This record gives sequence, C-alpha cells and structure tokens, in this order.
Amino acid sequence: MSPTPTPATRPPGPARVAVLVSGTGSNLQALIDASRDPAYGVTIVAVGADRHGTVGLQRAERHGIPTFVCRVSDHDDRASWDRALAAHLASHVPDLVVTAGFMKLLGERVLAAHTVVNTHPALLPAFPGAHAVADALAYGVRVTGCTAHLVDGGVDTGPILAQRAVPVEDDDTEETLHERIKSVERSMLVDVVGRLARHGHTLTDRKVTIP
Ligand code: GAR
Repeated sequence: MSPTPTPATRPPGPARVAVLVSGTGSNLQALIDASRDPAYGVTIVAVGADRHGTVGLQRAERHGIPTFVCRVSDHDDRASWDRALAAHLASHVPDLVVTAGFMKLLGERVLAAHTVVNTHPALLPAFPGAHAVADALAYGVRVTGCTAHLVDGGVDTGPILAQRAVPVEDDDTEETLHERIKSVERSMLVDVVGRLARHGHTLTDRKVTIP
C-alpha cells in the first residue's frame, strides 16, 4: 500500500483520481457529479473496467472521461493482468485509485504503485467478498451497511476509512437491501474520497487519520 500523495507533496490543483468499475457505476456517477465542483478537489482522470460494455464505462464516456478495459481473459495469468492494469493506471498518473464495484482482486503491482480505496456493501469485517449483501441477509443481521477502506493484499481486509449503518427490513430482498445500502454508500464514498484528496491521510497500524 503506497501512501496517498498529500496536497503538500503533489503538484498544486485537484487530486487525480482513477476509478475501476465492473458494473452499473452508480458510485462512479456520484464521484463524477461531486467532482464538477472545483472545491471538491478531485479530477477523475480515467475509468477502467475488467469487461467491455458496462454502464459504468458508458457513464464515463458520456462525461468525456478517458476509459480503458483490461480483461483477465486477455492475459496468460493473473500476474500479467496485474502488470497490464498497473501500466494502464500508470499512464494516467493518478494520485488515488478507487475501486467502486470492481469485482476483481487487485494484484501486487497495482497495490505497490497506488493508494487504493474500495467501497464494500457491508460493515467489515463482517461479510467480506463478492456476495456481501446476500450473506448478511442469509445470516439474519438486523443492521448492515457499507465500508470504505484502503485496499491491501487480502479480501476486504484493509484499514477502514469510513462506515455507515443501514437497518435490514423484514421484507428486504437482496435487491431492495442493496439499493438502500448503495444510496448511503454513494455519499460515504464521495465524502471520504474528497477528504483524502484534499487532506491526504496517515496510517498508524490499522488506524487511518485524515487530518
Ligand atoms: C456497490 O455496492 C459496491 O460496494 C459493490 O458493488 C456495488 C457497485 O454498485 N462492490 C462489491 O460488492 C465488491 N465486493 P455501482 O456499480 O452501482 O457503483
């Protein structure tokens, strides 16, 4: 995990943020909308995906943001995919990378080169992985939520930046619960990415401080 360049250590101006998506990209859209305000302190310099034809990519294209696709299946193995993804990202010189519904584990090249923020639809460390909302419902929790965290080499194990709680209703399905989580998740992500961009962060053991 590399440190976020703080406003004091990077060139003046907004932080350069690259976003990785796999799906509909509503969290990406929230970041795009927030970044229209210069006071937010973020320029989204690229949106990457691990598959073609996603709504997330279309959202980026509509806003004139450069896009790229880097598919695991186009590479011999995960290590060469990791190198290719690292090269795509490096070409956009991001200060910060955000995974917003990106359904692949990042490799060591990408993680060595960038601070990466992930958003996850559960209150970690409960329900990590790709089926967090279904897992929380199946477990029968009465409260779940979302977590923004720094990405390390594990599955949703990195230091926590922010969390918001969402009650589970008796008649919730995976879809209704996920939609309610996402409406809270978008504002959590916008808030935390903006604060990181404007202020940087320090990390002591697992404790993140955004000054
Ligand atoms: C979000 O809820 C995000 O937390 C989740 O996918 C959704 C993407 O929504 N990510 C994961 O489950 C990763 N394990 P979006 O495409 O509308 O932003």
